[in-house]
Amino acid sequence: MNKLNVAMIGYGFMGRAHSNAWRQVRSFFDVSYEPVLKVICGRNETEVKRVANHFDWQEYATEWENVVNRNDVDVVDICSPGYTHAPIALAAAKAGKILFCEKPLANTLAEAEEMLKAAQDYKCVHMICHNYRRAPAVSLARQLIESGKLGNIYHYRATYLQDWLRNPESPTRWRLNKAEAGSGALGDLFSHSVDLARYLIGEISELSAMLKTFVDKRPVRNCNEMANVDVDDAALALLKFQNGAIGSIEATRYASGRKNYNRFEINGSKGSVAFNLERMNELEFYSDEGPNSGFKTIQATDPVHPYMKGWWPPGHIIGYEHTFTHTVLELLQAIADKRPASPNFEDGVKNQRILDAVERSAISREWQTV
Ligand SMILES: NC(=O)c1ccc[n+]([C@@H]2O[C@H](COP(=O)([O-])OP(=O)(O)OC[C@H]3O[C@@H](n4cnc5c(N)ncnc54)[C@H](O)[C@@H]3O)[C@@H](O)[C@H]2O)c1
Repeated sequence: MNKLNVAMIGYGFMGRAHSNAWRQVRSFFDVSYEPVLKVICGRNETEVKRVANHFDWQEYATEWENVVNRNDVDVVDICSPGYTHAPIALAAAKAGKILFCEKPLANTLAEAEEMLKAAQDYKCVHMICHNYRRAPAVSLARQLIESGKLGNIYHYRATYLQDWLRNPESPTRWRLNKAEAGSGALGDLFSHSVDLARYLIGEISELSAMLKTFVDKRPVRNCNEMANVDVDDAALALLKFQNGAIGSIEATRYASGRKNYNRFEINGSKGSVAFNLERMNELEFYSDEGPNSGFKTIQATDPVHPYMKGWWPPGHIIGYEHTFTHTVLELLQAIADKRPASPNFEDGVKNQRILDAVERSAISREWQTV
């Protein structure tokens, strides 16, 4: 089997999720390429060494500039904050690496476009990590829509609700600083609902949106200073799709009691589907053809359901981390089949155009064309 040496930048939340995914994919799925956990990179030497040992990375490094163009690296997996995505991806593209980047693709539309152009110019395989596409129940929803079971699609209604930021005493961090994160709930949560909208319904043509920051100053950790918060805490938009459907997305970090409530409902002329990440093995399905009125719950854990052949017997449910394993699987299969990965940097740019239109609409208070 061909080996594929992976270099990962960032060892935080996503660094750990991706480390796990690269390890799991080779154990549970038949892949033509075997990922090798070659080198993990982070700025704090003690911490990166600890994570490297924990996940069996062969080496660790503290400067990404020394890693992304190494001859013994095939894939550069970008798991660091938004402001680092463009410089790392541009350097890795120049070195002809396979590019795998966390979402949102970049902090601005211009940066995202530059990343796509570099990936194309240097003929790199490229992929963005919108992992929720790869929850089996979400992929099943797409199969049902594609097969016509829902008929013409009228509505996409998405909410992505968290509550970890409600406490105004909670200190600032990179996610609350525009220069580092690009935006707040918009790039963090809303972008996932945009990706699911594009995956399940199609392209968004116009939108009207608002952004809200509830707490605009927060303490700096371990000192007596306050820092400005210059990103949104919540993002809300009305959508028009090219195919005539209409929709809405609400994303917030202030929905008391909601932890990772990533939900959508889609209504068509013949049926509906609804999904909630907090019950991610299930898809609610309504069909006019069904014997009963009302929704039924499909437990998407049978071997016929997307990705489930690799895992356990029916009813033995899987979890959040498996969405990353399936995303990495998609990348490995795309490499083997010599086809574009999905979603890729082109999707990342299209997503970023929508985030950009949200920001324009929030300022102008008018509908914006995407
Ligand atoms: N797909 C998802 O569902 C999902 C979920 C959370 C975060 N993300 C995305 O993943 C990325 C990272 O987020 P996170 O939650 O893991 O953040 P985090 O704060 O937990 O980790 C960030 C890591 O990047 C490292 N880092 C920062 N600057 C660096 C630099 N210049 N060079 C090398 N390493 C650097 C930090 O040391 C840390 O290890 C972001 O783009 C975020 O939007 C995606």
